[in-house]
Amino acid sequence: MELTIRPRRLRQSPVLRQMVRETRISEKSLVYPLFVKEGVNIKEEIPSMAGQYRYSVDRLPEELERIQASGVNAVLLFGIPDHKDECGSGAWQEDGIVQKALRTAKKEFPDLYYITDVCMCEYTSHGHCGILNGQDVDNDRTLEVLSKTALSHVQAGADMVAPSDMMDGRISAIRKTLDQKGYSSVPILSYAVKYSSAFYGPFREAAGSAPSFGDRKSYQMDYHNKKEAVKEALLDVEQGADILMVKPALSYLDVLQTVSDRVTVPVAAYSVSGEYSMIKAAAKAGFIEEAAIVCETAAGIFRAGADILITYYAKELAGFIKEGRIG
Ligand code: PBG
Repeated sequence: MELTIRPRRLRQSPVLRQMVRETRISEKSLVYPLFVKEGVNIKEEIPSMAGQYRYSVDRLPEELERIQASGVNAVLLFGIPDHKDECGSGAWQEDGIVQKALRTAKKEFPDLYYITDVCMCEYTSHGHCGILNGQDVDNDRTLEVLSKTALSHVQAGADMVAPSDMMDGRISAIRKTLDQKGYSSVPILSYAVKYSSAFYGPFREAAGSAPSFGDRKSYQMDYHNKKEAVKEALLDVEQGADILMVKPALSYLDVLQTVSDRVTVPVAAYSVSGEYSMIKAAAKAGFIEEAAIVCETAAGIFRAGADILITYYAKELAGFIKEGRIG
């Protein structure tokens, strides 16, 4: 048959396929989320997230060593405190769980890059992401505690802060606070486009951060909306966000593509707990091949425009890249 253009020509061999690849994946673009909890000698598996653990500060270095050995350079720290109160005051204590973890981690593994999740939900008795006024989260009062929390993380050694609360104006508020205290070079990764999602279910079990009443729909985004994602993204860029995040990842690849087309800052995607747990469970049941699915989903997220991928599979992915399965 006379065919001038035969797309199969470029698919003839692994060398050729790798040569013409449109999406390159590197372990240097991966971030690993990590849960740190109060207590001593704790390494406990998270029931809803097989293969993921909560560590006490003294056991944290053993995990940091594995992360570094895998080739992953960056972690995103979440704290699980012992005590909670109405306003989440544990979030900004000098000897808070994230602050203690940072001091130990920076000392033991100074070459890793430490990003901290800045939010109130793990620290408030009601589990909402801010200060309550009746049944509602008070936006402007919450900005003060978020700024204090971000500052205390940076003072304890955080390299970058990542506010995930979805209050309006928090990037400005945090930027101003950090600048006033002499931390103008610490970047902010904004969870700018964060949808109200059932995919966070396993995380809330992991971090004990489920709201005790209601839901997060008055501050996290409605998943029917995409233009609103651009609105949130542009607002946060205006306020000084250095990197934007879209979250979750897999059900929001169109949003990721649109946001990355519209902004000039790097865009991170967070493949969240529910995405991880679904793959894990299906693989355990023998329905899918875990490594192949992890590679394919990661490539999909980068292809949609992500510059950075935050994933519980970061260490495994770094291994797959080394093995040449993906990249
Ligand atoms: C805190 C926060 C959440 C996640 C990251 N930061 C939970 C939530 O908003 O309820 C979810 C991460 C995941 O599911 O892996 N606000």
